[in-house]
Amino acid sequence: MKIPSYSSIPIEVFLKEAGESLLPWFKRGEEMLGLKRYPLKKLAREVARLSEALIRGRAGAYMEEEWALRAYFAFYFPQGYLRTYFVLREMGGLLEEDFSVSTINDLGSGPGASLLAARDAFPRATLKGFERSGRAARFAEELGNLPVLKADFTRANIRGDVALAVSSLSEVGEVLKVVRRLWRTHRCLVVIEPGWSRGYSMIMELSRELGPPILPCGGYRCRLGRGDWCHGALPFRLPDLTLRLNSLLRHKLRFLKFTYGVFCRDSSLSGWGVRLRSPLIEEKGKSYYLACSQGRPIRLEFLRRSWKSIPRAFCCDLVRFRGQEVSPGTFRVEEFRVITSEVLKEDQD
Ligand SMILES: C[S@@+](CC[C@H](N)C(=O)[O-])C[C@H]1O[C@@H](n2cnc3c(N)ncnc32)[C@H](O)[C@@H]1O
Repeated sequence: MKIPSYSSIPIEVFLKEAGESLLPWFKRGEEMLGLKRYPLKKLAREVARLSEALIRGRAGAYMEEEWALRAYFAFYFPQGYLRTYFVLREMGGLLEEDFSVSTINDLGSGPGASLLAARDAFPRATLKGFERSGRAARFAEELGNLPVLKADFTRANIRGDVALAVSSLSEVGEVLKVVRRLWRTHRCLVVIEPGWSRGYSMIMELSRELGPPILPCGGYRCRLGRGDWCHGALPFRLPDLTLRLNSLLRHKLRFLKFTYGVFCRDSSLSGWGVRLRSPLIEEKGKSYYLACSQGRPIRLEFLRRSWKSIPRAFCCDLVRFRGQEVSPGTFRVEEFRVITSEVLKEDQD
């Protein structure tokens, strides 16, 4: 796993920690599936085939087949783990002090990436996975002793604090009908999808139904337009096998992108800032981040002379700043602090 020992980008510190939690599980899964001896090019072809199915929201149908489980684990499992771990750690760090999670139901747990991340993010919670594919459920149980029930989550009678759905609601036909039922039986609904417009449209649809998500938007209504949505894009730090597969794919991933929505009833945030929507953009004479403040798109500009001292932040970091609004929506920044990493660290202390 290529994760720098220290970097000035705060998100890297988080990714290093997340990578360390993931690595033992990934190594164990690699051994269980014989991936070290499996021809890399053949595996890359299987990943490409599975990607097509994922884009069409039909990957679940293949999870019973050995090749699909192998391809999913090698390429998508680390991504699912890191996305879920980021969102749940952020949720644990930002929701008000007395918010405690005692049960998490992972809907469509597949080979166990999201369920493992939930266990690592909330070690004291009671977890349950619901998965349609017996093969994927058995793999998750064997990999990490994870409690997975072979069941269709759209029909099962499920109750708890948090309903977690990572890349699984996009496989469901009548999403709103399923979500309404989950909302009646849970305090929070956490939906994470890969960074694609279909995922964003789904989060927007859920916002209209349940109210604006508490994360990533602080409970504010999103005023961004289609194609310019606020979602996470973490630097691509993944296990070596996943990186080697990525280098063989026609459509290579450059960032670990995702769209998410944390909907919680009767909960508020213990702190808030401004959410970045881009990495630092450097253009002639100016440097800026695109950001989102209370649902409103804004721009945080830095003067050339302060460039060296700009703290490097990443798309989806939460920051606080002080500065003048020099034109509508554009702020000239005087002070700037990245708070995501502070929150993630505090949460763990
Ligand atoms: C793309 S995988 C995601 C797995 C895991 N959440 C992760 O983050 O890696 C989606 C999984 O949801 C499962 N799934 C889809 N619809 C389901 C349903 N109605 N009931 C149970 N499982 C379902 C599929 O079988 C598949 O394993």
